[in-house]
Amino acid sequence: MIPNIPAIKNPEKYSAFELSREKILGALDVAYKQIDKLMAQVGYKFPNEYSKDDVYATVENTFGWGNGFWSGILWHAFQLTGDEKYKNTVLGQIPSYTKRITEKIGVNHHDMGFLFSLSCVAAYKLTGNEEAKAAAIMAAEHLTTRYRKCGDFIQAWGNVNDPKDNRLIIDCLLNIPLLYWASEATGDKKYDEMAWKHFNTTVGVCCRPDASTYHTFYFDPETGAPVKGVTHQGAFDESAWARGQAWGIYGPMLTRTYKDSDDAMNIFKATASYFLNNLPSDYVPYWDLCFNDGSTEPRDTSSAAIACCGMLEALKHMDKADPLYDVFKNAVNRIMNALIDVCAAQDKPEANGILPHQTYALPQGIGIDEYNIWGDYFYIEALHRLLEPDWQLFW
Ligand code: GLY
Repeated sequence: MIPNIPAIKNPEKYSAFELSREKILGALDVAYKQIDKLMAQVGYKFPNEYSKDDVYATVENTFGWGNGFWSGILWHAFQLTGDEKYKNTVLGQIPSYTKRITEKIGVNHHDMGFLFSLSCVAAYKLTGNEEAKAAAIMAAEHLTTRYRKCGDFIQAWGNVNDPKDNRLIIDCLLNIPLLYWASEATGDKKYDEMAWKHFNTTVGVCCRPDASTYHTFYFDPETGAPVKGVTHQGAFDESAWARGQAWGIYGPMLTRTYKDSDDAMNIFKATASYFLNNLPSDYVPYWDLCFNDGSTEPRDTSSAAIACCGMLEALKHMDKADPLYDVFKNAVNRIMNALIDVCAAQDKPEANGILPHQTYALPQGIGIDEYNIWGDYFYIEALHRLLEPDWQLFW
């Protein structure tokens, strides 16, 4: 459903706030030092998806969904500094993406966009690299194999057509830009059609009337009828997992960049307003939005960075007279100011990430109050967008 846009409960929390250019540039200087340190460690390989005691280990490009974020961080560093070492490092990684998709290594899941948009699509957009373009189109083609016609959605995990895995997840809203892009790159409309259907199915079932979101949603394998919303990484089926809500903020805006859809903009306004209404007073979300001031639960700074990217994209398309325009603008400045301060407070000399206090999957016990490579990525994307509002998207 398209939820109603909740009123902002506490407008003074999002009153005018200036985040200075100096502070943003200073935050990026801190980040470049960490990027250089990690790049010296991993070479053409990758940091693990999450750190242990604030230190990322080095891994190959053979599993998971996180490697594209590291490549994306390097592309931002290249664009922001002009230093060719960042570009050359990503170009040195491209053969590992080609191998991964050609040999189908660790790709039995929906996360092709996270892996290939920020690495290979970006490489093609920025350098015209044809190998990267071919790998990204193969990844888009692979993603189409997970499309379930009965229900019109992309199956998240498990073997395709396994009835027990007949579900979508809200995170996939960030994977479908790869499909929209593949239609533009190849002229074949099928990718775009699947992405748009998946988008509509997802927002149709995952958005609740109060603009909070379900993380995953099951469908009847026989009829394709929606069955029930279930969380995977959140606190409760009926709560709003902070990062899931953030995917439900930025995802519609990414579809909006390809489809110019009013529905996508209205869904964004609703899910973003819910997020802002459920932030604690220091603007740093807990890992599930059911926790608030006074809780001792871990935070998930990554959800804040993702939400900021969504709001920054939305500000490009919103009417300045819309009362939510100033709310979102001030919210971004206040949240990013808080995240910059969180980064500045990190004082472990051995730490090799960028944005501390992220939470990957608390119920599964992984990456809790650690660096997670996606949060590092979205923090840099948000800082880049603050400096250059017309930054051309990799997505
Ligand atoms: N897409 C998986 C996660 O957000 O943890």
